[in-house]
Amino acid sequence: MAKHDLDPNYLDPNYEPVVNHSGNASFAHVLQARMQRRTLMKGSVGAALASVMGMGIAGCSFTDDSDDSRTGGGAQSGTELGFKPVAVSNENRVVVPEGYSARSFVPWGTPITGNHPEYRSDGTNTGADQESQVGMHHDGVHFFPIDQKTGGNSSTEGLLVMNHEYINQSALHANGPTKPADNDGVRPVDEVRKEIAAHGVSVIHIRRATDGTWDIVSRSPFNRRITGNTEMDIRGPVRGYSKLATAFSPSGTETRGTLNNCAMGPTPWGTYLAAEENWHGYFATSDTERPREYVRHGVTDSSRYDWELADTDADEYMRFNVSTIGASATDDYRNEANTYGYMVEIDPFTPESKPQKRTALGRFGHEGVIFAPAREGEPVVCYSGDDARFEYIYKFVSSRPYNAATAGGYLLDEGTLYVARFNDDGSGDWLALDLENADFAGKVAAAEGTMVGEIRFDGFENQADVLVNTRLAADIAGATTMDRPEWGAVDPKTGDVYFTLTNNSNRGKEGYDDVNAANPIVENATGHIIRWAEAGGDHAATSFEWDIFVFAGEQGTETVVDGEAAVTLDDTNIFNSPDGLWFDYNGRLWIQTDGSWAPPYQNNMMLAANPVTREIKRFFVGPRNCEVTGVVTTPDVKTMFVNIQHPRGNWPDPSEDRPRDATVIVTRDDGGVIGA
Ligand code: FEO
Ligand code: CA
Ligand code: CA
Ligand code: CA
Repeated sequence: MAKHDLDPNYLDPNYEPVVNHSGNASFAHVLQARMQRRTLMKGSVGAALASVMGMGIAGCSFTDDSDDSRTGGGAQSGTELGFKPVAVSNENRVVVPEGYSARSFVPWGTPITGNHPEYRSDGTNTGADQESQVGMHHDGVHFFPIDQKTGGNSSTEGLLVMNHEYINQSALHANGPTKPADNDGVRPVDEVRKEIAAHGVSVIHIRRATDGTWDIVSRSPFNRRITGNTEMDIRGPVRGYSKLATAFSPSGTETRGTLNNCAMGPTPWGTYLAAEENWHGYFATSDTERPREYVRHGVTDSSRYDWELADTDADEYMRFNVSTIGASATDDYRNEANTYGYMVEIDPFTPESKPQKRTALGRFGHEGVIFAPAREGEPVVCYSGDDARFEYIYKFVSSRPYNAATAGGYLLDEGTLYVARFNDDGSGDWLALDLENADFAGKVAAAEGTMVGEIRFDGFENQADVLVNTRLAADIAGATTMDRPEWGAVDPKTGDVYFTLTNNSNRGKEGYDDVNAANPIVENATGHIIRWAEAGGDHAATSFEWDIFVFAGEQGTETVVDGEAAVTLDDTNIFNSPDGLWFDYNGRLWIQTDGSWAPPYQNNMMLAANPVTREIKRFFVGPRNCEVTGVVTTPDVKTMFVNIQHPRGNWPDPSEDRPRDATVIVTRDDGGVIGA
């Protein structure tokens, strides 16, 4: 792929390469069903809008059903939206409703550990400095109450843990990045060190003072940086697999770093899972024959930041060159990119702990992960979307049961990975990606020797091979290709699972998968939110019933259910490209956007939704050019943390001349519950 095809700052929300050519959704019966049930979307702006359908599913017990047995009839309470919605905005500042305040916190470059190097606003901090400072491009974030391990739920002190998805190279360096083309084909090694250090995860111990302001607990032993170079273990079925053998870890049991950490998920046992999303772009191979593990993920001959061209022989940089160079795989880094694409478990309460890559959850472009509520004696269940056009939604079900007294990351090392098939009639099935499952084994046998998309499929040598090639396994299983699954969220009152489908510019275009019932919009520009209820309310079930919660779009966009508009967007709630999604502890659904900045939407935003009534109100608008991504509150829902990623200009400090990604703390002036 030519370098100019990649926007280094991902300003195009559709930057993920299309690498799924499996054609999974070209099912004639899906299209037929859609045609039968199509509803014309009406728009007040008069333009011929997309033709879509809202599902009205007979027998499906969604939250609209007030006698839903799973809710005890209480689903209506506590989710009202009591604030006055804010208008769209193109100002270079954060907008919150009347009676609320917002201030920026822990911006990129804030010193938190090591020798606490001060942030220099001229960009001259070194790579070593950055290793002790908060990283760039804040994304998924969680607040762990400081007393969580002893059963407490402090709302005044905790560990704020967040991902740093990628970087703005221009802002990171004093004069922008040195390009290899201008520098004898290499990049200065300290620039590369700084870029690697600006990625990863920050653990920040924070406390609220009596005047209500939050500060970092300086010199706290919990404060920590995990970067693109931190040593990690490989865990689960892929541990020790030959396709992960490298010069660094000939046994295929370790690697260095986590990259492109987008969203996350707190586990039921108080750890943090960071997702590895667009990791493929950090590696380059000059091999003319690329292995299927690289083809199906878009690892090419060109990397986004040219780290493999660092002016050094040190293999912590050379490893980004995944070409065949040595005599065998343990002499080079041809397999390095197979050590990426996982969910990475970090224990923020144990600062010396080594992060663990949990391979049983699959290898793909993990946007994040969301756990179902843990129940004593039942399996642990979590969901993860693969954010690229025409990729899939997955579910992991542990083999061993959850027990609060003994729960830990080991529960994520054995279990079944499933992929979702959304049927046209509103039902759905979880398809096991497990060679011991007869249905999957039969499909694998039938596919051998055939072309699966661009890949001539020659079988899986074992379950580790299935997991390293999760996307390919899902193609073979017959999963439903989706419009870029981003975050998921589980309604704490009903157990219904919601996922954002941010957009898909190629849906239904010539040469690409056609629409299907769950992804019914041709060239879906603005996205939608899907939800499902697991059969019998059991998250480990292998079937479900689904519904579209809302279609995003401009004023007049209707989501039609049973012939009636269940939602009609207007000035108070138009949005596009939903991405971040989170249920707060009271059951309000928070929707964040990463979409077009053009009118009528303008800056990216966050809205709140009532999952019962589908009422949606705009709560927050970010500064210019940013994406609003990552949201969490304290347990009392009185302090909210919202992340602002890739701002431009000089947000948040107008006296400085470069932008800084930052967390925004939102509170109510009367000290009340956010959103109520
Ligand atoms: Fe990193 Fe899919 O957003
Ligand atoms: Ca992002
Ligand atoms: Ca995202
Ligand atoms: Ca996005």
